[in-house]
Amino acid sequence: MNLIVNVDSNWAIGYKNRLLFPIPADLKNFKRLTDGKIVIMGRKTLESLPKSKPLSNRKNIVLSKKLQTPSNNEYLVCNSVENLFVLLRNNFPQVKTEDVFVIGGEQVYRALIPFCSVIYVTKVNKAALNADTFFPNLDKSTEWKIIESSELLEYNDISFNFLIYGKNDNLNNLCKKP
Ligand SMILES: NC(=O)c1ccc[n+]([C@@H]2O[C@H](COP(=O)([O-])OP(=O)(O)OC[C@H]3O[C@@H](n4cnc5c(N)ncnc54)[C@H](OP(=O)(O)O)[C@@H]3O)[C@@H](O)[C@H]2O)c1
Repeated sequence: MNLIVNVDSNWAIGYKNRLLFPIPADLKNFKRLTDGKIVIMGRKTLESLPKSKPLSNRKNIVLSKKLQTPSNNEYLVCNSVENLFVLLRNNFPQVKTEDVFVIGGEQVYRALIPFCSVIYVTKVNKAALNADTFFPNLDKSTEWKIIESSELLEYNDISFNFLIYGKNDNLNNLCKKP
């Protein structure tokens, strides 16, 4: 499973159920990576989307203990992490794990990071004035290492990088001789 997140210089991700830095190139990169794929989000993140509508051209799964899958099936609701894996197996038996993206917010990221092997981070080199939701600082983790970094990009007065983190376990396995 993959995860995709936009963080500020303090690894903050949101404030009052909104993104901190909606950068056009980042939104485009998000669309490119997740297009046609399965996306998993929390109920609050669904509510933060325009008109609280799921993302188009993607299979949307929403984690919630309150919501139910709507009758038009525009998204599927799952009430626990355990049932998420049952739902994925039953509804998408052919899907490859790399075609599943965890897209937030904080609660859902924290619940599903242990099941991810690649994390796409847009790292904004600026601290938001206000933030109430955060992502774990991967640079302080021994489990995750940067495996790819873009050049420094700029949007207005904001600079940012696209980073890809891989799990150390997986990197070790890749390096092992057959
Ligand atoms: N920077 C980024 O890349 C990024 C991406 C996405 C979101 N965000 C931001 O993140 C913030 C929202 O994060 P958040 O942590 O407050 O909310 P969230 O993770 O989007 O949603 C939390 C809700 O998801 C459900 N949930 C979470 N874990 C669950 C589990 N294990 N089983 C069943 N349901 C579960 C619960 O819904 P019920 O209460 O209905 O049971 C919970 O209240 C917003 O500011 C948003 O803009 C940032």
